[in-house]
Amino acid sequence: MNKDIDSLVLICNSLHKSYVSADTLLPILQGINLEVGLGETVSIVGSSGSGKSTLLHVLAGLDRPTSGEIILDGHVLSGLNDDQVCALRNKKLGFIYQFHHLLPEFTAYENVVMPLLIGGNVSPGNKDFARHILERLGLAKRLLHYPAQLSGGERQRVAIARAVINNPKLIFADEPTGNLDNHTGSQVLEIFFELQKELKTSLVIVTHDPAIAALTKYRYRLKEGSLYSE
Ligand SMILES: Nc1ncnc2c1ncn2[C@@H]1O[C@H](COP(=O)(O)OP(=O)(O)O)[C@@H](O)[C@H]1O
Ligand SMILES: [Mg+2]
Repeated sequence: MNKDIDSLVLICNSLHKSYVSADTLLPILQGINLEVGLGETVSIVGSSGSGKSTLLHVLAGLDRPTSGEIILDGHVLSGLNDDQVCALRNKKLGFIYQFHHLLPEFTAYENVVMPLLIGGNVSPGNKDFARHILERLGLAKRLLHYPAQLSGGERQRVAIARAVINNPKLIFADEPTGNLDNHTGSQVLEIFFELQKELKTSLVIVTHDPAIAALTKYRYRLKEGSLYSE
């Protein structure tokens, strides 16, 4: 792709990931190369079971690759221990799952403030930002609701707020609207892409919806362990 190396938020070279299952080696990622620039949007499509979630988890440092190199905002992940990877993730990354993964015993507001607490960044300004983002996402009257008291679309909007609260360099989204009806999904996505542009956050989104992929600047397909430009 020949991008300016200093403007790259994510570089991965020759990434492999295999699982061992019942004594058999199951190769899932077989030499992935990817570069994501500052503020750029990238989509990855692929059929179910092609390894999309595996790829996002490995890129985000939630799982380790079998081999290959990942450089996140200048940090080589293989050179960091698990605690250091966690700290880097908290500071630089947001992750949105298909099924919100909100903490059920905390309110919407508390879920959003959690990454600030973990990163030791709770300040009046940041708490205001949490409120502002939730209001922006149409949740002004839902701050004190628990996840079980929210609709699917509302939960995903809280998950988006949580992903952006630390002003991350890069957001990974794993089929973030895959669990919502079309109308709710489009509403959530529209506001998500608006925020992403405003905050100039890079985005890697996994989807099997071509309409969602069309919203990103770069589009890839994951097939038989490799990424192909669409
Ligand atoms: N922890 C695991 N152990 C063994 N196999 C796994 C594990 N996680 C995922 N797989 C297998 O890896 C393949 C890719 O899974 P996944 O990344 O979830 O695909 P996708 O997100 O594209 O649907 C699947 O065949 C799945 O069964
Ligand atoms: Mg998946």
